[in-house]
Amino acid sequence: MTAAKVRRAHPHIIATVNSLPPLLDTLGRPVRDLRISITDRCNFRCVYCMPKTVFGRDYPFLPRADLLSFEEIARVARVFVARGVKKLRLTGGEPLLRHHVEKLIELLAAIPGLELTLTTNGSLLPQKSAALRAAGLKRVTVSLDALDDAVFRRMNDVDFPVARVLEGIEAAAAAGLGPVKVNMVVKRGANDHEILPLARHFRGSGHILRFIEFMDVGSSNDWKLDEVVPSAEVVRRIDAEFPLEPIDPNYPGEVAQRWRYKDGAGEIGVISSVTRAFCDSCTRVRISTEGKLYTCLFASEGHDLRDLLRAGTDDGALDAAIARIWQARGDRYSQLRMAATPGMRKIEMSYIGG
Ligand code: GTP
Ligand code: 5AD
Ligand code: SF4
Ligand code: SF4
Repeated sequence: MTAAKVRRAHPHIIATVNSLPPLLDTLGRPVRDLRISITDRCNFRCVYCMPKTVFGRDYPFLPRADLLSFEEIARVARVFVARGVKKLRLTGGEPLLRHHVEKLIELLAAIPGLELTLTTNGSLLPQKSAALRAAGLKRVTVSLDALDDAVFRRMNDVDFPVARVLEGIEAAAAAGLGPVKVNMVVKRGANDHEILPLARHFRGSGHILRFIEFMDVGSSNDWKLDEVVPSAEVVRRIDAEFPLEPIDPNYPGEVAQRWRYKDGAGEIGVISSVTRAFCDSCTRVRISTEGKLYTCLFASEGHDLRDLLRAGTDDGALDAAIARIWQARGDRYSQLRMAATPGMRKIEMSYIGG
């Protein structure tokens, strides 16, 4: 279906960007990026995210009726777009496991003024890239933690071969979903020896490799500070083999710091959520799979939107509820990390979305 046809079929999702005054939180930050987790399930068990010891056979994933429907997701997105949201990222769990995800993409792609993107483990991209692009998806970000097959299989812990994800990245680029951003979470002692092999592999490919500091999200990944490889060290290690120079952000508040190879072989990014927190410019809001709104990746409590959606609340009242939540926001967890109470309960990344 074309975007125009979707708009005719669903007139209620016609939104005007910035048709309402921008929302500012208590630190003066507007809401710009919306990240929606569309499933809490994943076919991987990455050691830093969904360790098997916790997310085993009996893990109580959400029943289908608890998930926001596609219509509900599109409605929430439209209300946020009217308040200035410019970018929508679908996350999970593994978002491509959600049945008929292409239909959701069609609905969302019909909202004017919204950059639509998705973060995936890449396992289903070989077969799904073309349909995703046809549905209106613009770009994908693919997680990839090692180039060596044995290390990759250990990191995903379901024995998934790296070749299939590499194939997925190429399929996405060939379908027009590029340049593909490739995210590597670096965990010292587990995969940090794969930094250089991945850098070598993606240099000159047109894809953008980004290194993410291992974060203390959730409570199940047994995070320790000494397992974090600071971004400065990542840059040093790559620079020693391939000289790098810093480049300006694409937009103010960009999460990744960009570096380019001096020989012209492209760029990399580093995401320093632990060693150089970026809360001051954090304009991200997250919606969990079951429709709870979280104003921070590290929030312990969400705000239920699903009940409002299912109680017949109109858009005005939904907007007012969202405005109240955002205007009360003062989160800056990463800046306070070391002072934060160690026993604090945190929401799992696979539930809230990355
Ligand atoms: P692009 O504009 O496409 O580059 O989006 P992005 O930079 O937000 O990239 P992406 O959504 O792929 O985020 C990359 C990773 O950065 C996530 O998977 C998280 O690990 C981390 N991250 C993103 N947003 C936040 C945030 O708000 N707080 C913290 N602490 N980490 C974040
Ligand atoms: N630290 C940093 N990044 C993480 N991700 C998942 N768990 C963590 C963590 N503990 C990243 C994944 C993916 C995105 C969904 O979030 O690598 O890129
Ligand atoms: Fe799944 Fe992504 Fe978490 Fe890995 S990081 S377990 S692929 S949701
Ligand atoms: Fe935003 Fe919270 Fe991450 Fe800080 S820790 S950048 S406030 S999501």
